Amino acid sequence: MSSGGIMASTRLLRLFYVKVAAGSSRTLLARAGCRRNFSSSPSRQQSCMSAWVIDQYGTNGVLRYTEEISMPTINSPSDILIKVNAASLNPLDVSMRGGYGAKLMRLRRNPFTVTDSESEFPLILGRDVSGVVVDCGSEVTYFNPGDEVWAAVPPWKQGSLAEFVTLTEYEVSLKPKSLSHIEAASIPYVASTALSALGNAGGLCRDSSSNKRVLITGGSGGVGTFAIQLLKAWGAHVTVTCSQNAEGLVRGLGADEVVDYTAEDAAEQLETMEKFDVVLDNVGGESEESVMGLLKTWSGAKYVTLVSPLLLSTDSMGLLDGAVHAGFTLHSKAVQNILSGGIFYRWGFYAPDGPALDEVSRLVDAGKILPVVEAQFPFTQVPQAFQKLEQGHARGKTVVQVSEEEEDDDGQTEAADSEQEAQETTKEN
Ligand SMILES: NC(=O)c1ccc[n+]([C@@H]2O[C@H](COP(=O)([O-])OP(=O)(O)OC[C@H]3O[C@@H](n4cnc5c(N)ncnc54)[C@H](OP(=O)(O)O)[C@@H]3O)[C@@H](O)[C@H]2O)c1
Repeated sequence: MSSGGIMASTRLLRLFYVKVAAGSSRTLLARAGCRRNFSSSPSRQQSCMSAWVIDQYGTNGVLRYTEEISMPTINSPSDILIKVNAASLNPLDVSMRGGYGAKLMRLRRNPFTVTDSESEFPLILGRDVSGVVVDCGSEVTYFNPGDEVWAAVPPWKQGSLAEFVTLTEYEVSLKPKSLSHIEAASIPYVASTALSALGNAGGLCRDSSSNKRVLITGGSGGVGTFAIQLLKAWGAHVTVTCSQNAEGLVRGLGADEVVDYTAEDAAEQLETMEKFDVVLDNVGGESEESVMGLLKTWSGAKYVTLVSPLLLSTDSMGLLDGAVHAGFTLHSKAVQNILSGGIFYRWGFYAPDGPALDEVSRLVDAGKILPVVEAQFPFTQVPQAFQKLEQGHARGKTVVQVSEEEEDDDGQTEAADSEQEAQETTKEN
């Protein structure tokens, strides 16, 4: 086992013991009516923080800047409070702003919710964070205040378009030393998604990819630009579909073959290629039908799509009917494909995984994975960052700088200036 592998498993072991211990000590604390002591650091004396929130679902106009949202707290012994330096946006943020996945997320936040009456608002979006640990729960063993960390914030938790965010130890990882916070914030959510889709659903890993041919559709966006680099680091042969003007970008990241999906003969180009072991579909819709025939038959090939109808179904049909309908769709496609060509049809999903990000961190610091930051916005311009994302045609990631520590010439902090500008943007919005 490599030293990286040993470090990862040591941490997993420690987390396992923390979890076992957490269960018993939580009960003891509850019985004794105790709460853990909060530290007296200046940040912990604050009770409110600044954030971009939404109070209802809708278009960009629902984004509101506030300095009066309650600061997140350490609620469990494995929680970590992080001061956010940078966040990034994903297509999910635009969808969630409009109410996508609201029913399932509400259930995930509170499994005992039986009605729609319990409100998730004010809701903070933003799924990536790069920042600094401010405080740790009593049983956090792997992190200390002052550590620079990165993480993907699960969509059922309050997001990172805020001064502070709370996550559990298992969701957080030490940030790669070679990256700035802006660069680091571009990676965790797409990395967690790509790792879960390619690993759990696609059956690929560092040791099993060297003889595999992988097709990535939509390779020029956030997930695609990360997946290309991860698969190349694992030794796979990577073919990518993207627009013609993104060819230079994806080749620069290591793609072996590139097909311009807007070309008239795109389908023919793909059909004349040697068949693939795995397809990672970032596009969905019609591309699903057309790429299915590009997989090897009867040799364990896997089709993994990130564009599943699960959340749309639960939104429109309700939790039970929607889940049953989506499950039936998945089941019938899986059966059809396994019977017709021995191909595994799977949905890929983001999954929170700090130890997996540790491995990504090592690949980044080894120069094998580069951040792809297409656009950067100050915290004052979060609505403009959403507009950028909504225009589509992403070439990597859109990042938001939430705070910085340096002082201006006049002695004020940049963060203070940002807050004033953000209030002005909210008024204009
Ligand atoms: N299930 C999950 O947990 C999960 C997690 C993350 C992401 N996702 C989903 O996965 C998809 C990809 O995410 P992302 O963050 O990479 O999105 P993104 O950053 O918006 O990238 C999408 C990319 O696809 C390109 N594209 C559009 N149509 C295409 C086509 N027909 N063929 C090839 N390329 C095409 C776009 O550029 P051009 O339009 O210029 O070609 C863009 O570069 C999104 O639908 C997202 O919602 C799902």
